[in-house]
Amino acid sequence: MRFTRREALLAAAITTAGASAPGIAAKRSPDAKFLWGAATAAHQVEGGNVNSDYWVMEHVPGTYFREPSGDACASWNRWREDLALVKAGGMNAYRFSVEWARIEPERGEFSTATLARYRRICLAAREMGIEPIVTLHHFTSPRWIAALGGWENSEVADHFARYAERTARALAGAAKWFCTMNEPNAQVTSKIMQRKPWDIEPRLRADAAKAVGSGRFHMYFLGDSFKVRDNCIAAHAKGRGAVKSVIPGARVDMTLALQKLVAGPGGEALYKRIWDNARASFYQAAKGDDFIGVQTYNLSRTGPEGYMPATAALEERDMFGFGSSPSALAATVREAHRETGIPVMVSENGINTSNDAQRSRHLRATVGELARVIDGGVPVIGYVHWSLLDNFEWSSGYVARFGLVAVDPTTFKRTAKPSLAVYREVIAEMRRTNPGHERSAHPIVLARFQIVPVTGRNSSTREVIGASHSFPTQKNAHFIGGLQVGKFIKMPTYRRVLTDEASVMIKEYCSKLYITEGFTAHKEQAKFGVRHYGRKEAA
Ligand code: BGC
Repeated sequence: MRFTRREALLAAAITTAGASAPGIAAKRSPDAKFLWGAATAAHQVEGGNVNSDYWVMEHVPGTYFREPSGDACASWNRWREDLALVKAGGMNAYRFSVEWARIEPERGEFSTATLARYRRICLAAREMGIEPIVTLHHFTSPRWIAALGGWENSEVADHFARYAERTARALAGAAKWFCTMNEPNAQVTSKIMQRKPWDIEPRLRADAAKAVGSGRFHMYFLGDSFKVRDNCIAAHAKGRGAVKSVIPGARVDMTLALQKLVAGPGGEALYKRIWDNARASFYQAAKGDDFIGVQTYNLSRTGPEGYMPATAALEERDMFGFGSSPSALAATVREAHRETGIPVMVSENGINTSNDAQRSRHLRATVGELARVIDGGVPVIGYVHWSLLDNFEWSSGYVARFGLVAVDPTTFKRTAKPSLAVYREVIAEMRRTNPGHERSAHPIVLARFQIVPVTGRNSSTREVIGASHSFPTQKNAHFIGGLQVGKFIKMPTYRRVLTDEASVMIKEYCSKLYITEGFTAHKEQAKFGVRHYGRKEAA
């Protein structure tokens, strides 16, 4: 086959991006499946998390917690039932967190039994066809960390990295999806918007410090949120490095709390403060990650002083009165991808409601909107619902209802709500009607690239740098592997396309480059000048 100079340049770009040589066997990677899951977090479901900072604060006299976490959902002993429920919901992923306060209950003392237990959960999940997505830090930390000044102390990043490394060693071969930190931006938003903490905070912190035998006590959502932000970002980078040093193929992210936020009348300045402090800096920090975890529940507006009350125009409200429009998620997924350029995993989304029919409607509508975002070319690798279980909702205690499954507070018996079956249907329906999402979401290159300069319509601005398999219903589709690249490559010169865009995209998005002999031309794509050559997926 004769290559034009441009084709040769692209081939070079691919090679420098660490691609395999032509002719390498192509198999569907295990990545090539959309992750449909549900999530929980250790402190919210396991119960008895006595060595954590939250446990301490839950028991300080006059605490702001409505009630203590206690036995939570008793998942410490009932995790097999939880996995069975994930399976019953037709899901193929379970996001849960491992508890630092249990793994390292005293500084430098690691519990091998606890690590072995988390490993067993991951292995059992995999045996059931459920991909574990492991969160290393979901708000709670060991009390000894709190006593050192917690996340206000810059030493925390190194402690976290050491814990991440030990945990990764225990989970190597059993898990590959890792989230370092859950919503490190949430405490910044909450500080700016709600002007928390409250008047009683100094006293609560002093009492908690006494309880842990220190002069200091810090936990999430209290104290200096800007110091905490910087330490979280440092911990994320170090934690990611630690996990990858042990499990080179690990896919690591941090998740962000991303409510759909718009500036209401007079709320522009506050909106900008949120953007600069609780979004832009975190998006920047996420850029080196494998994907970004988007967590969206609400649609809110900033006013001059804080959140504006939800209005009828916000379509849906949850049981706490927050606007919960299903369109919120689509907006934040687009935003997160636009700002970081990396694939998105919806790592939490759901609605706090005691009306399960509302949950089912909300779930269907939200996933429907998400499918349109994917159709629009945003690489989304999974959707994880919050939550699998009704659980301990932090300072609100046990009144919230986010679960697909109800839990009896005394017997801990799980009862699936109708929404679990609805989720199962939604997943099956999405797999049936959008098979392309399974592949288009995943960055795997399946074809020999051809560079075909587009002639005709838009030829002055559009260059198509490659095409492989794709998504038959998609118009205007140009792909690098499963990744639609058409919209990124309206570049005026070829050189930039190759050096800046193509190689960066290949490096960042393509876990593997499988080269085959190409594909049969697809009419839609041929229209735009993309040529495919005879399909032959190697064994
Ligand atoms: C947190 C969860 C919490 C959920 C619902 C997320 O911000 O990660 O722990 O339960 O929101 O409020």
